Amino acid sequence: MIRHTLGALCGLALAASLASAQAAKPAKPPKPPAPAAVAALAGYTEADIQAALQAAYDKYKDIQEGKNADYIPALAKVDPKIYGIALVTTDGKVYTAGDVKAEVSIQSISKVFTMAKVIEESGAEAIEKRIGVDATGMRFNSIVAVEFAEKALGGPEINPLVNPGAITATSMVKGASRDEVWKSILGYHSEFAGRPLGVDQEVFKSEAATNQRNQAIGQLMYAYEFIKSDPAQATDVYTEQCAIAVNAKDLATMAGTLANGGKNPVTGKQVLANANVPKVLAVMATAGLYDDSGKWFFRTGLPAKSGVGGGIIAVSPGKFGIAVISPPLDDAGNSVRAQKAIADVSNALGGNPLAPKAR
Ligand code: DON
Repeated sequence: MIRHTLGALCGLALAASLASAQAAKPAKPPKPPAPAAVAALAGYTEADIQAALQAAYDKYKDIQEGKNADYIPALAKVDPKIYGIALVTTDGKVYTAGDVKAEVSIQSISKVFTMAKVIEESGAEAIEKRIGVDATGMRFNSIVAVEFAEKALGGPEINPLVNPGAITATSMVKGASRDEVWKSILGYHSEFAGRPLGVDQEVFKSEAATNQRNQAIGQLMYAYEFIKSDPAQATDVYTEQCAIAVNAKDLATMAGTLANGGKNPVTGKQVLANANVPKVLAVMATAGLYDDSGKWFFRTGLPAKSGVGGGIIAVSPGKFGIAVISPPLDDAGNSVRAQKAIADVSNALGGNPLAPKAR
């Protein structure tokens, strides 16, 4: 009995001392909530995206491969060290690394947006019937590709992302005068970028003085009746559109607009009808990096487009648009750093649309 009473007393004392020890201990601070995933990119936080861009920037900053384009004299003078990366998610967030204020000429990337303009105005069939939507497997300014399409394939078997198809697409933009056509093209590019764009006059003049090959391509497309209006005007407007000045953020916003079903995710404006977006992306997937388009698509699964100014845009549909500017090019005419950096960032963020997760 006494033993029981002592035991009970000891138990009470122990409980009391435990309680007082607990009261003395400061309460644990609540755990901070885990950073929220970005809505457009399930599973990835803002810090993940920024880290992916920075890692790609650091990894390729000092590589020495490639060489500026020099067949347009003004491009040879552009600083080869310019290197900027930008990514715009479909919920309108912008991430950048490196040199994002520097501008380069848009060059062949403009072909995407002029094609989109023609599709908006005249329908996707107009492009398919007049120009074609097949890869040529040849260089972007190949005349053999035109001859082969005409003589061996018997018609419109090229695409609007190589020079003959692009000059033809420019000739198809509606407008009563050169000025009207030009304003329409520049305005459309600006809507994709979300700001009024301008022209690098030095690049325009330099290319206009040296573009005899493109003039010949324009005349040939006219002779074969792909171009139905003044071919000299079409080549001249095409040359000016290639000289539109853009920075990495402009290009990423343009790509982000395609990723977001044609609606600019930063301005909220529907620039390209939703139904027309897959047509544009399909041609980018087939022919966006010229004769290296297959290799690029195999590695990344991303519809993309390069320009000899050093830019590349790529689109992860529903997720993000990404752009890199870096002037040194490989033999196919595609920026060396841009290809590597875009592939890395997309890989790090699950951007390949051809890589579904198994259930
Ligand atoms: O017509 C040309 O040659 C240039 N304005 C554009 C070529 C170009 O960007 C090809 N890109 N990889």
